[in-house]
Amino acid sequence: KSAKRIGIFGFGCVGQGLHDVLQDNPHLEVARICVRDREKLRTLPNDTFTYDPQELLQDESISLFAELISDPKEALQIVRQALEAGKTIVSANKKMISENLPELVALQQEFGGTLLYEAAVCGSIPILRTLEAYYGTEPLQEVSGILNGSSNYILTKLDAEGLSYDEALAQAQALGFAEADPTLDVGGYDALHKISLVAAHAFGAVIKPEQVLRAGIQHITKRDINLAQALGGRFRLVASAKVNKNNKLALQVLPTLVFPDSDLYYVEAEFNGVHLQAKYAGDQFLKGRGAGSHPTGSAVWADVSAALAGYKYNYPKFTYDCEERLKQVPLEEE
Ligand code: HSE
Repeated sequence: KSAKRIGIFGFGCVGQGLHDVLQDNPHLEVARICVRDREKLRTLPNDTFTYDPQELLQDESISLFAELISDPKEALQIVRQALEAGKTIVSANKKMISENLPELVALQQEFGGTLLYEAAVCGSIPILRTLEAYYGTEPLQEVSGILNGSSNYILTKLDAEGLSYDEALAQAQALGFAEADPTLDVGGYDALHKISLVAAHAFGAVIKPEQVLRAGIQHITKRDINLAQALGGRFRLVASAKVNKNNKLALQVLPTLVFPDSDLYYVEAEFNGVHLQAKYAGDQFLKGRGAGSHPTGSAVWADVSAALAGYKYNYPKFTYDCEERLKQVPLEEE
């Protein structure tokens, strides 16, 4: 059986991670990698790369694409074009997907293409696949946890090693955990994008980011950490989606003090941890590496294999809505 050919967009931390893990897969051949910067020194021969997205998108010998670039606008153009041509594409761009989900779902329905994005949420943890296992059977009541590896890495280093905020952030960047714009991580926006994707898959809700209460970790001081330690707790950036008594959904992303009786207390460095609560199954907790080149590359690989086997998301009907009260809060002036 001849190898399938994959076209990759982006050769940053995740693109390189995917390229590495694919070395273990003889059934997939990397056709070309599309990158933007012609000057950058690269670890692969020059003819592996192209600078023109159309060269990949219009190559009929390519079976599927992986979109792994950080710019959400360019990423959307690529994914849109692939889906409009009825093709299969996997993406790790949580900002782009969470902000355009209804359109991306409609494009798949109209043109028959497939978009998978397990790597966009919680890195190596197969969270979307797990949520799909619940959909259509018993209802979930809550999904919550640590969804951003960089801020968890920073909080861990502030707490356990007494590093300064700037030192810890610089390490998270050097290790390839942080987004190109780390404000997305430390400001809680990345966790917000992820919890909104979780809400779509767990509850069938498309929640606008501006309807979510959000605060980041930038303003946590050394003294806050010392006070938390004195209380026997640790700060974690916790994102949650919960169904309330009125059958409405509330999402939030907030720094939270957690104690040794919580699984989240033991989620350290770039790890993520997600707690699910279902009507009959009760509690479940998933923990794994939420960021980094190989763990995220592995999640993209899992999507690539699933897509080649014909897997598609079984989107819930988008029935839940957020609290009316939240919609009435006026938008902040930019
Ligand atoms: N910047 C993200 C994080 C990468 O730190 O979690 C993985 O999505």
